[in-house]
Amino acid sequence: MFVQGLTRAAAAVALAGVAVLAAAPPADAGAGVDRIKKAGVLVVGSDVTYPPFEYMEGNTPVGFDVDIARAIARELGVRLDYQNTAWDGIFAALKSGKFDMLLSGITITEERKKTFDLAFSKSYFDSGQGVAVKRGGKTVGGAGDLAGKVVGVQINTTGQYAAEKLAGIKEIRKYETLPEALTDLGVGRIDAVVADYPVLLYNAAQAKDRKYEVVEGLVIGEPEQLGIPVRAAEADLIPVINKVIDDLKKSGEYAKLTKKWFGTTKVSTTASAN
Ligand code: ARG
Repeated sequence: MFVQGLTRAAAAVALAGVAVLAAAPPADAGAGVDRIKKAGVLVVGSDVTYPPFEYMEGNTPVGFDVDIARAIARELGVRLDYQNTAWDGIFAALKSGKFDMLLSGITITEERKKTFDLAFSKSYFDSGQGVAVKRGGKTVGGAGDLAGKVVGVQINTTGQYAAEKLAGIKEIRKYETLPEALTDLGVGRIDAVVADYPVLLYNAAQAKDRKYEVVEGLVIGEPEQLGIPVRAAEADLIPVINKVIDDLKKSGEYAKLTKKWFGTTKVSTTASAN
C-alpha cells in the first residue's frame, strides 16, 4: 500500500510538473498578438491588383481579402491598415517586419515557409492555376497545347511555377502584375496567361473589351490552398486567424463574402468542379 501510495504521490507530483510546464507559455508566446494590440493597428501587406481578392476602388483597397483582414483586425480589437505593395518582394517585406501579415490571394507552400521563415494560417480558399487565351483563339484545350507558346505569368507566383513544370513552352514571360499580362494577352503579344483560376474567371468577366477568355475547366498543376502568412516568430497569431476563419464560416458570413465578391458561393477551382 505504501509503495503504491508513494507511487501515486510521485505520479501526482510528476503530473503537476507537466501541468505547470504545459501552462507556462514559451518565452515569445503572445509576441505577435501583444505587439499588435499595443500598436492598436494591424498592418497587412497586399498586392492590390488581384480582383476579386484585392483591387483599388479609387484610392481604397477592396475585395474578399480586405474583408477577411477587417474581421481579423476586429478580433484583435485594433484598426486595419491595409497597404498596397509590389508582389515581387512581398514575402521579404513581411520577413523584415514591414507588415504584420499578408493577405494577397497567397498559396500556401512549403518553399515559402522555409525560404522566408513564415507560418501560414489554415486555408481560407481553394484555388488552382487556370489558363486564359485570346478570345476565339481556340488554340488551347489542354495543358499540352501550351507547348510552343509564349505564356505570361505574374512573377514568382504559383502560376509561374506551374508553367515552369510544363514541357515545351516556348517562353515564360514574367510580369509585375496580372493585369499587365492580361493586357498583353488581349493585344496578342503573348499566347496565354496562367494564374489563379477564380481570378482569371473574374477578370475575364469584368473586362469590357472581352479580348481574352478562360479555358473552361482547365486547371494545371496541383490543387492549391490560399492562406495568411505571418513571421514564424509570431506564430501566436495563427490560432487567432484560424478562429476568425472558423467563425466566419460558422456564422454564414463567409458564404456572404464569397457571394459578394465572386457572385456565387460555389467558386469553381478545379476541373472536376466545372
Ligand atoms: N496564388 C498565387 C500565389 O500565391 C498568386 C497570388 C498573387 N496575388 C496577388 N495579389 N497578386 O503565388
